[in-house]
Amino acid sequence: MLSWKWILWAIGSLLSFIGLGLLMTSPNHISLFANSRTLLLPGRTTDGHYQIELSCESCHSAPFTDVNALQDACIRCHGEELSRVEDSHPRAKFTDPRNADRVAKLDARWCITCHREHQPEVTSAMGLSLPTDYCFACHENVGSDRPTHKDLGFETCSINGCHNFHDNQALYEDFLTQHRDDQATDVNAKLPERNLREWALTNTSVREIAKPIHLGSNDHNAPATTKNIGLVVQDWSESSHAASGINCLDCHRSEDGTWQNNLDHQACKRCHPSEIEGFMTSRHGMRISVGLSPMQPSLARLPMRTQSSHKTLTCESCHASHKYNTSHAAVEACIGCHKDRHSLEYKNSPHYALWQKSVAGQGSPGSGVSCASCHFPRIANYTDRNRVTVVHNQNDYLRPNEKMIRPVCLSCHGLGFTLDALADSSLVQSNFQSTPKPTVDSINFATVLRWSLEGRRPPWEKNSDKPQPKQ
Ligand code: HEC
Ligand code: HEC
Ligand code: HEC
Ligand code: HEC
Ligand code: HEC
Ligand code: HEC
Ligand code: HEC
Ligand code: HEC
Ligand code: HEC
Ligand code: HEC
Repeated sequence: MLSWKWILWAIGSLLSFIGLGLLMTSPNHISLFANSRTLLLPGRTTDGHYQIELSCESCHSAPFTDVNALQDACIRCHGEELSRVEDSHPRAKFTDPRNADRVAKLDARWCITCHREHQPEVTSAMGLSLPTDYCFACHENVGSDRPTHKDLGFETCSINGCHNFHDNQALYEDFLTQHRDDQATDVNAKLPERNLREWALTNTSVREIAKPIHLGSNDHNAPATTKNIGLVVQDWSESSHAASGINCLDCHRSEDGTWQNNLDHQACKRCHPSEIEGFMTSRHGMRISVGLSPMQPSLARLPMRTQSSHKTLTCESCHASHKYNTSHAAVEACIGCHKDRHSLEYKNSPHYALWQKSVAGQGSPGSGVSCASCHFPRIANYTDRNRVTVVHNQNDYLRPNEKMIRPVCLSCHGLGFTLDALADSSLVQSNFQSTPKPTVDSINFATVLRWSLEGRRPPWEKNSDKPQPKQ
């Protein structure tokens, strides 16, 4: 006869089987189900992805072991970025039969060969799950091919300032030699100016709304029934929206034409699509883009201020409506949440002194360096080169940190100075408060190569077989 224990067991198993099915197929917004999916994770998720770990289907659109489905997912979210930075080791290199011998040693056709997930024991920064000397697998002979590389260990290939696996836009030979004689700092240098207004007044989708007329507080078009809007109207009338003819209803009109009070980023979509796209693919907005609730500092792995724990990350976190003051967004908003040493040290840096001067109107516009100058750089738009946009994905130029060289530091500093500064992690921690020591040999190595190709002898060759550090 069946004992009651077995009956209970059978019912229990059936329920958990149904439960698992529900867990995996339930929509993300039902947080009870979504949160219990944590139980199914085989291990801690990487820093890059933990925010979206409960959205299993973002990566696992097919059974867990399907590598093709995983590869498609990686490409869906990162493919555009890798091609934009001219990935030095794209998949095409490894599907080429001439490299079959190398692929046999390390199958670099698949992202997950190097970026495994839920495996904290083997994972280091940037989700890398290989030992650091892995370049050896394919470039074993580099020491004999290149005199400058003779005695270098393979664990040093990708330390700061030498090589990256994907993005070498600031590290290739021509670029390095071209910048050999840069001065350390140009104290008169400036960052590019923003040109959203000019763009809005000519762009076909926005120009029907944006006009070169400055609206005043009496021009607002909120219906008379909206109560207590005195302060809102004042903030708006001083904003650059009012200065460009953007009125209340341009944001607050619902689809059926009536007034809508509660707004989110959708209200900005028509006029600021690139900012929204950047935000949604960043560590500030990535949860929203997979249908989870917005990110909150209380969920973060990085140190955050306790008083901001329960704020949610939206456009308004930095751009308090209705002022949309960008100077506030560029420093004070950030340190309202961030509390790591680097962020806290910023106000002691020479860059902050420059920033204060430029905000006070003493320095020229663009001569100050805010948190945003480095993390939300102003660059030529990825698709429309005449438009200077503010990158809203702070991870686009964060890691490896040589990504920051071209869009940011090189506007004001030389390449050698910048490579040395970024390679020194204590200088990054102190938010760049002192002069970097010359440590990175990349420019010298590239020069040696160039000169030997041109049949010239480097001037130091007589005294030493190693290039002298550039002073
Ligand atoms: C950002 C992408 C991503 C998300 C989100 C994600 N996974 Fe994974 N998962 C992976 C990758 C990549 C692997 C392959 C790891 C490997 O082979 O080392 C994997 C492997 C697994 C495996 C092991 C399969 C095997 O081969 O042994 C399980 C189980 C798993 N994931 C469950 C989950 C569950 C459950 C969730 C949601 C709660 C989830 N994963 C969310 C990327 C993800
Ligand atoms: C739903 C979109 C999505 C999918 C799918 C996805 N990622 Fe990511 N990934 C992100 C976001 C967003 C970040 C954090 C922002 C950033 O680093 O750009 C990130 C971060 C990373 C990082 C860390 C970057 C750093 O600076 O620490 C790596 C590496 C990475 N992803 C690789 C992969 C690989 C490999 C896959 C496939 C298994 C994958 N991603 C799948 C969205 C995704
Ligand atoms: C042979 C190993 C290897 C393979 C294969 C590989 N990566 Fe990476 N990936 C790295 C290393 C190493 C880093 C650390 C930074 C660097 O050296 O470029 C990295 C960094 C990244 C980053 C962080 C930001 C950046 O731009 O460097 C992302 C995102 C990323 N990889 C995505 C992918 C995706 C998507 C694939 C598959 C198409 C992939 N990787 C394949 C080794 C690999
Ligand atoms: C899976 C094999 C593989 C791995 C791992 C690998 N590479 Fe490569 N690498 C290649 C191939 C293939 C090329 C194409 C040129 C060639 O055939 O040498 C290449 C090209 C290069 C080049 C350009 C060389 C030139 O002649 O212009 C550099 C620099 C480089 N790799 C550095 C690295 C570094 C640094 C690492 C480790 C962070 C690394 N590679 C890891 C396969 C690999
Ligand atoms: C650029 C877009 C934009 C414009 C223009 C705009 N608003 Fe708003 N408004 C918002 C957003 C976004 C929110 C939601 C703020 C939040 O969640 O913190 C909001 C919230 C509100 C609210 C409700 C919340 C509150 O603060 O009490 C009122 C009322 C309001 N706006 C009135 C106005 C009036 C009146 C005008 C014109 C003078 C105006 N808005 C112009 C974007 C805009
Ligand atoms: C109908 C079009 C339109 C909508 C909708 C809109 N904006 Fe704007 N926004 C503009 C224009 C045009 C400018 C440029 C104004 C100028 O520089 O004179 C601008 C400027 C800005 C600026 C820069 C302000 C400055 O002082 O430089 C921020 C920040 C901003 N908008 C945020 C938002 C946010 C957040 C939303 C959604 C809540 C939003 N906007 C909705 C058209 C719009
Ligand atoms: C983490 C803080 C932060 C968040 C979140 C954020 N922004 Fe910004 N945004 C900034 C900063 C800082 C600037 C000004 C940078 C500068 O002056 O170089 C800016 C500038 C802008 C501008 C002016 C761009 C130009 O080209 O002149 C617009 C428009 C804008 N943001 C819209 C948005 C929208 C829409 C969202 C939500 C999807 C958003 N921002 C979310 C920090 C943020
Ligand atoms: C409302 C709070 C809030 C505001 C405001 C805010 N951040 Fe963040 N930021 C976060 C959270 C939360 C994360 C994700 C941290 C994590 O995943 O551990 C983050 C992530 C980041 C990262 C990525 C860190 C990494 O290791 O990948 C950078 C860089 C960053 N923020 C810079 C800024 C800058 C610059 C500003 C101002 C322009 C700003 N943040 C404004 C909360 C905020
Ligand atoms: C001169 C440029 C510069 C300025 C100014 C700057 N940062 Fe950074 N920030 C960096 C670099 C470079 C890194 C390091 C990337 C790396 O090596 O991992 C970094 C890293 C970070 C990180 C990631 C920390 C981590 O441990 O992962 C956060 C968060 C951050 N910065 C926020 C801020 C905030 C907030 C401010 C202003 C208070 C600020 N930064 C000012 C250049 C700058
Ligand atoms: C808008 C111009 C500008 C940008 C962009 C900029 N800097 Fe600076 N930086 C300066 C100026 C000017 C000084 C010198 C201030 C002084 O001496 O009072 C300085 C000082 C420094 C110092 C301290 C030098 C010393 O001798 O004390 C370091 C280190 C540094 N910057 C690194 C960087 C790095 C790394 C980046 C890019 C992530 C960067 N800076 C971006 C203008 C800039």
